[in-house]
Amino acid sequence: MVSRRPFVGGNWKMNTDLASAVELADEIAASCGQLVEHCDIAVYPPFPYLQAVGRTLGHHGVQLGAQDLYPQPDGPYTGEVSTDMLLDLNVQVVLAGHSERRHVIGEDDELINAKVRRALEAGLNVVMCIGETHEQRQAGQTNQVNINQLRSGLREVGIDQLRQVTIAYEPVWAIGTGKVAGPGDAEAVHRLIRRNIADLYDEDAARSIRIQYGGSVNADNAADLFARGEIDGGLVGGASLDAEQFMAIVRAAVEAKEVNHEARSR
Ligand code: 13P
Repeated sequence: MVSRRPFVGGNWKMNTDLASAVELADEIAASCGQLVEHCDIAVYPPFPYLQAVGRTLGHHGVQLGAQDLYPQPDGPYTGEVSTDMLLDLNVQVVLAGHSERRHVIGEDDELINAKVRRALEAGLNVVMCIGETHEQRQAGQTNQVNINQLRSGLREVGIDQLRQVTIAYEPVWAIGTGKVAGPGDAEAVHRLIRRNIADLYDEDAARSIRIQYGGSVNADNAADLFARGEIDGGLVGGASLDAEQFMAIVRAAVEAKEVNHEARSR
């Protein structure tokens, strides 16, 4: 039985200023303690604060993440940021396909796939986000939308590179709305994602890949979500802007894994 290491990320989106970003990073670094031994923890500050946040995180084991990248090595791409620039700042993990980039900025599947492949080639870990809108869920298209986004995002990604990939299932209707998906509903989509990974790659890959849930995760609902064996942690927006709440979510992920592990070994 594969025991997947939980992974909790804090996506700060277009929030904080320099002082509050550094303060938040400082609080997280100071309180992560032994938790980093049991859980991958990452924060994704806005681009302009990556360097300062990276310095503040220091060597406490919290990973520095970027919210986006551009899939070209360099050149005339005004406003964009390359993987080399991210690597210069010691970024370890990058988001691709976040719903706000899909639906607000207008990124399509092809661009998202190019970003995933570019980041993997550069040696970065990637959290590829997928999820259906409210309208798509109402129309009974949840499974198909997630399968399509998963398959097109992973096009031409080899099985060896899959080790660098985490999937984040973030139903769009649950993001920033306070309407968290029911743990059972979320788990059903996670199971579907895993089945498709088995189909695209193999059973081992499906058992090993981590799938985070994202969408209104907070300190009150995290334990119920993470109690589901299929849910390997969370990608947290609003609640990650409060260090105490973010660390409570990390603790919930660690505790849930311990309970699930004990239950399996009984
Ligand atoms: P909220 O936790 O604010 O709903 O945001 C989720 C998200 O989009 C994380 O990437």
